Amino acid sequence: MSTPELGLPMAVAAPELPARVRIYEVGARDGLQNEKATVPTEVKAEFVRRLADSGLTTIEATSFVHPKWVPQLADAEQLFPLVSDLGRSSGVHLPVLVPNERGLDRALALGARHVALFASATESFAKANLNRTVDESLAMFEPVVSRAKAGKVHVRSYISMCFGDPWEGPVPIHQVVRVCKALMDMGCDELSLGDTIGVATPGHVQTLLAELNEEGVPTSALGVHFHDTYGQALANTLAALQHGVTTVDASAGGLGGCPYAKSATGNLATEDLVWMLQGLGIDTGVDLARLTATSVWMAERLGRPSPSRTVKALSHKE
Ligand code: HMG
Ligand code: MG
Repeated sequence: MSTPELGLPMAVAAPELPARVRIYEVGARDGLQNEKATVPTEVKAEFVRRLADSGLTTIEATSFVHPKWVPQLADAEQLFPLVSDLGRSSGVHLPVLVPNERGLDRALALGARHVALFASATESFAKANLNRTVDESLAMFEPVVSRAKAGKVHVRSYISMCFGDPWEGPVPIHQVVRVCKALMDMGCDELSLGDTIGVATPGHVQTLLAELNEEGVPTSALGVHFHDTYGQALANTLAALQHGVTTVDASAGGLGGCPYAKSATGNLATEDLVWMLQGLGIDTGVDLARLTATSVWMAERLGRPSPSRTVKALSHKE
């Protein structure tokens, strides 16, 4: 137990949880890709810098996708050079989304060392998000992984719609496992299990993780990516931590959604996650006050308040 500071929870450890969690920050990508207003490139760059200044060490910076598909991130070529020094000077990892070889070429040309693919567990979302079937998209990823690995570039892959899909409903676990195994066999370094529309519940999370382990995918290669549509993201995160997961995706201020899955709302807010982890005595390296100030700053730029409960509570003025 530790003495609580103002604006921090009292730390009381719970048994059998990891000592440290890596927060994989997606606000600048998953968050901003879904904003109606296009955020100026300089504001995005300052956002990334402030996130790094808050102690976050993995910050997904942008996407090298087709600019017509995600116009909000069409400035990737301009943005990445404005923040890439963070990787060299402070050791911050700045992954970027790439869907195909064209995206990889664009990312490599700017010196990216961490890339993230995005697969789908369902046919409907593969079509909507990648204009491909599931198998066609896996075939599209194969040369991306082999070229990235040959260049010693770290490869993550998301798998979207792991728990439910807006067109197909509940997603059978074996369907998710098949795609995850294919991506691991291809040589991906890590996977992130996406609850794109936020329908997962804790038992479902633990069952999927256990099935993946059964099929040879180790927990150490798995991260979780929860959207908070039904308010389940923190409960699902705790369930994943209890299973041994140590990589959790979150977005500062709870920004986010997905332009190709209309019922998706924001990601788990990083501040809400940090509050819980700090309360559990789990080390994240994040300064909650600085992070909250960053989300308040960003909310002002976006012209609407952050949906994060923790941001609201910590920034509330009498
Ligand atoms: P397509 O139309 O099938 O592309 O789109 P194509 O391969 O037929 O190529 C058509 C043209 O696009 C060609 O140009 C290509 O060069 C160009 P042309 O020869 O006609 O002049 N092109 C590109 N240009 C720039 N950058 C590229 C690129 N690729 C092709 N990378 C494609 C296929 C994958 C490109 C398209 O579907 C796409 O960009 N999709 C991106 C969708 C997206 O970004 N969604 C949001 C991210 S996923 C997400 O948010 C979920 C996640 O958070 C996890 C979760 O919550 O579940 C990760
Ligand atoms: Mg997402």
